[in-house]
Formats: sequence, C-alpha cells, structure tokens
Amino acid sequence: MIVLGIETSCDETAAAVVTDARAIRASLVASQLEAHRPYGGVVPEIAARAHLDLLDGLVCRALDAAGVGLRDLDGIAATGGPGLIGGVIVGVTMGKALALAHDRPFVAVNHLEGHALTCRLTDDVAFPYLLLLVSGGHCQLLAVEGVGRYARLGTTIDDAAGEAFDKVAKMLGLGFPGGPALEAAAADGDAARFELPRPLRGRPGADFSFSGLKTAVRVVAEGLPHGPEGRGFAPRDVADLAAGFQAAVSDVLVDRTRNAIAMFRARHADATALVVAGGVAANRTLRARLADLAAVHGMTMTAPPPALCTDNAAMIAWAGIERLRLGLTDGLDFAPRPRWPLDPRAEAA
Ligand code: KG4
Ligand code: ZN
Repeated sequence: MIVLGIETSCDETAAAVVTDARAIRASLVASQLEAHRPYGGVVPEIAARAHLDLLDGLVCRALDAAGVGLRDLDGIAATGGPGLIGGVIVGVTMGKALALAHDRPFVAVNHLEGHALTCRLTDDVAFPYLLLLVSGGHCQLLAVEGVGRYARLGTTIDDAAGEAFDKVAKMLGLGFPGGPALEAAAADGDAARFELPRPLRGRPGADFSFSGLKTAVRVVAEGLPHGPEGRGFAPRDVADLAAGFQAAVSDVLVDRTRNAIAMFRARHADATALVVAGGVAANRTLRARLADLAAVHGMTMTAPPPALCTDNAAMIAWAGIERLRLGLTDGLDFAPRPRWPLDPRAEAA
C-alpha cells in the first residue's frame, strides 16, 4: 500500500509518501516561519494563504521524490483537524480533489492521531501503549488501545507544554518558534540557579498546568538587568533561566507520567510501552528523563526521531495507512474539524 499524506493544520505545509512496509519514500516540510516571524506567532490568515501557495508544488515534489504518480497511490490522507480552520480546509480540499480526480479513497486524519501512531511507523510499537502527547496545542496522557481507540488519562488545565516553551522563549528574547531556541539556550545553563515551581507535582491524577510556571519565569525575568534598547538579557541569565524552565517542565511531565503509568497499568497490567510524541518530544532533556522513568518502571520508552516529532506529513500518510488497512475511509462530504478530541468521552479539564 502506498499513500500520499498532506498536513496543513498549523504553520508547516507538508506532503509525504509512505508505504505500508513502513518506508518513508518522501517527506517534505515547507516552513512558513519567515512569513510569521514579524508577528512573533502564527497568524491564521497568513498560514491559510501560504498553504494555498505552497501545497500543490509540494505535493508534486513529494511524488517526484518518491518516484510515484498519482495513479500508483492506494489512498490520499489529509489532516482533517484539529487545527487552524483555514489551513485544514486547504489540505482537505486538495486531498478530496486528488481522490476524486484519480478515483482513490480519501482519508481525513486526526492530526493528533498522526502524532499518536508515528511510533508504529518508526518503531513498530504494538498496542496498547501509554502516550505522552506534547505539542504546541496539546498536552495529554493517553492509553492508546488501537486505531481510533484512545482513553485520555490526563490533560492540561491551561497551557500546552509547547505553548509554555514558546511563551517563555519570547519573554527571554529567543524569538519564534521557541522550543528549539530555548533548548539550545539552556544547553550550558545552570538549572538550579533560579527557584521555579513545579505545578501539580505530587498531586494525584495526570493533569498538567503550566501557567503558574510561566508567570514565575516572568517574575524572575522582570528582576533581571536588561541591556539598553535593542539589547536583551545577559546570555548567562538567559541560559540559566531557560535551563531552569526546561528542568521544571521536565519534572512536571515526568511526575504526571509516573501517575499515568499506574493508571495505564490498571487497564493493561502487562503493558510495557511508553511513547512520547509531538513537537516537544524533540527535546533531548525530556527524552532522557522519560527514558529513565520508563526504566524504573520496567518499561521501554520510544520517541520518534525529532523530525517526526514536529509536524510533518509522513505521520498523516501513516495514520491514513492504518485506517485504510481497517477499511476506514471518509466521504467527500467530510467537513474539516477545527476541534477534534482523540477521546470524545473525556470531559473538559
Ligand atoms: O507538534 P508540533 O510541531 O505542532 C503542533 O501540533 O502543535 O509542536 C510544536 C511545538 C512548539 O510549541 C515548539 O516550540 C515545540 O513543539 N518544540 C519544542 C522543541 N521542538 C519543538 N519544545 C521543546 N524543545 C524542542 N526541541
Ligand atoms: Zn502537531
């Protein structure tokens, strides 16, 4: 089986060709970073227009790189949500049009399911597994029990983890997007220099909160000497505060995941797989901490390679393959879903 994947839910336009033998034949990501940079964040209308400009050329290049034509495809998978509605409409419309014109099945993929199933593309992880899904818009712990079968064990009551990275990076003058810049700045920082809170640590359950931590970083930052106009904080201060923040986020994520392991084991006594996915899963400190946690609990931690943690279309093509294998396709009347929870039974936090 060979499937074209299309991803347009946020600020990366992406197209990929993946096979059911778990081969990524092509995976292209066109970043819109420069278009959004002046605004310090993603501007939905700019994103939608950029997807429109970029997507058709990108799909052609992905097919060329994979050495296949549209006729060779067994299906076309596009992100159907959740995400910024304008971008999702662009990707879904392209996917439907190609499916209609070439008489191929269309699959509308939940972007979060794309992240959730990536470990099966890269590492063939078997169901069930415990998933920590940490991205720019989401922060959840889920029992992944099958394709389309998710039980949410915890979620954030305020910010997503990636959102916290982005906001703190902005405060520290590290620009946008914040996660990778903050990780780089933290590399030689002293994480112990500033005292920062660990929201919800030690509390029962597996929910998250990051807004108090973000405020604490702001208070510390406001007390630091700031250079003259156009010059920011001293590099040492930025490194130490970035390292302190990264350590605090990691502590919280590890603590909540520890509780989720117990909740997961109550459902699946013998399960041993812990998976981390989503953009923040690219963070090396976090990956190392979670690997340690897994080892303590007799589990194995799997994290996709960083390029498949952040948004890409290979994960959408793969989720499309998983659904096609089960005979799950969508009609051309599929309506884009800006909100689309993985576990519809879970209540709002
Ligand atoms: O999954 P993703 O690419 O897009 C969403 O679906 O949201 O996640 C993007 C998020 C951003 O908040 C970004 O700052 C964060 O992932 N991120 C990181 C790192 N790389 C990306 N956060 C921490 N450390 C990183 N190395
Ligand atoms: Zn994502």
